Amino acid sequence: MQQTDFLVIGSGIAGLTYALKVSQQYPDKKITIITKSREDETNTKYAQGGVAVVNDLENDSFEKHIEDTLIAGDGLCNERIVEMVVTEGPERVSEIIEWGANFDKNPDGDFSLGREGGHSVFRVIHHKDVTGKEIERALLEAIHRRPNIQLVTHCFVVDLITQHHLGYLVTKATPDIECYGVYVLNLTNKKIEKILSKVTLLATGGNGQVYRSTTNPTIATGDGVAMVYRAKGRIENMEFIQFHPTALYQPGVNPSFLITEAVRGDGGILRNIHEEDFMHKYDPRLSLAPRDIVARAIDSEMKITGTEYVYLDCRHMDIDKFIHHFPNIYETCIAAGIDVQHQMIPVAPAAHYSCGGIKTNEWGLTSIRNLYACGECASTGLHGANRLASNSLLEAMVFAHRCFMDATSKIDSLEFKENVPDWDARGTNAPREMILITQSLKELKQIMSDYVGIVRTNERLERAMRRLDILHEETEALYQKTEVSPQLCELRNLITAGYLIVKGASFRKESRGLHFNTDYPLKSELVQNIVL
Ligand code: FAD
Ligand code: SIN
Repeated sequence: MQQTDFLVIGSGIAGLTYALKVSQQYPDKKITIITKSREDETNTKYAQGGVAVVNDLENDSFEKHIEDTLIAGDGLCNERIVEMVVTEGPERVSEIIEWGANFDKNPDGDFSLGREGGHSVFRVIHHKDVTGKEIERALLEAIHRRPNIQLVTHCFVVDLITQHHLGYLVTKATPDIECYGVYVLNLTNKKIEKILSKVTLLATGGNGQVYRSTTNPTIATGDGVAMVYRAKGRIENMEFIQFHPTALYQPGVNPSFLITEAVRGDGGILRNIHEEDFMHKYDPRLSLAPRDIVARAIDSEMKITGTEYVYLDCRHMDIDKFIHHFPNIYETCIAAGIDVQHQMIPVAPAAHYSCGGIKTNEWGLTSIRNLYACGECASTGLHGANRLASNSLLEAMVFAHRCFMDATSKIDSLEFKENVPDWDARGTNAPREMILITQSLKELKQIMSDYVGIVRTNERLERAMRRLDILHEETEALYQKTEVSPQLCELRNLITAGYLIVKGASFRKESRGLHFNTDYPLKSELVQNIVL
């Protein structure tokens, strides 16, 4: 059993930023970061386009960034949160630069700014097309310089510890559910350990792996959301899954390689397989309309032409500039046999970002006491029905700071919980055949991709729910009798994430932002968050 003042689950931008801040404020307190994979294997590492932040005050303003975020969010953003994130953003970005992250500059010393869908001006700061890798590098180096931070890799958090584990009945109606720490599967010795904490932060990232085709790495399995749901905490707006319009079309490759929207910002044009430019049929903002609109337009063109991809045409762009801004994309395309100077890039939409998640207040506090959530696993009110491109790294930085402020203001009044039992593995045996897990995962991805994708209908959602019920039942039965493994836990968590997406989608009797149901093609006048 271990005890730590501050427990952080996840080593992406959200978890690392928070841990650094806490460590600086409290050099004498213990901070433990846990991650289930290598320390840098996170969604953060794969971020390409950059961070949306107002810095060019000649051409940009807080008002414009707020307005763009609200338009993308399609009426569902919390305006107070949007204003807060946009206006606090520049200070948070300065901090990350002080910690060592480098962003590209023009010869005049100003930031080189990119533009992405839904942005009215160039405002995205970036490091080539590998912004996330640079941020992750800088944060990890800063973390390793802090003696009071312990970063533990290859440990899988299985469940939050609450009153439920002390023998009390906990339901959604229970007031003051509290988090005392977590049970963790140590992947090195295969033992389940107990970690008690005064304050816990979930920074577990997204759930893109619930779909067959996703830009998210394999760690993105909705673990945080599923854990909070099991602990009877509040989850909201899970139906708003953002499909990125342009992932490189390479069937069977997981994750799909992203072709950043900044390529369209620099002039890349979408064409169907007949090489026809088509975006003018769908939106006057053409290829730089918000993502929900571009992804639906591509989906429609693919259906009309009967193909699984469209093209991104960069042949007219200055190749030297292309290679300078997008070296990673250029190299990856070359490795895939595509010379962007002479050939168009085959692209298709892929699940990319979860706009909903664990419901938090403006300080990142969840509905469970002493439990915070930050980054992609959280639903703060910023994104509404559709996230504006490059707003998520910004949100993670701003909310990591807010979680830090709130948690540190309370820490001295908190105690470790006593009498928390050890993990009870009685009645479980080693798994007999992994096929039961791998096949169910395939089925889950198939169901979600075929019935709960970019375009939805009531009938598809009903079908999806019936099939998920069966998968849920079978997986719970397996879980009860099988020794815990990361594969089994991830399957279980992904089924929960899928269930929450379908449930949210079924409750939403309208089409708004990323949720498009042909049975309710219009927006409802009732603007509501769906809380599960
Ligand atoms: P992550 O960075 O995903 O980190 C999650 C961490 O939680 C990992 O360390 C993981 O191992 C750990 N974890 C999860 N479950 C468990 C468990 N059960 N036990 C232990 N550890 C666990 N956003 C932008 O703003 N700009 C961009 O340019 C941009 N580009 C993107 C490009 C790609 C290809 C992708 C996939 C996303 C992009 N995004 C971008 C989105 C953005 O990168 C993510 O939303 C953000 O990085 C999430 O950060 P996070 O800290 O919340 O989670
Ligand atoms: C991209 O670079 O296109 C992704 C940006 C984002 O998801 O915010």
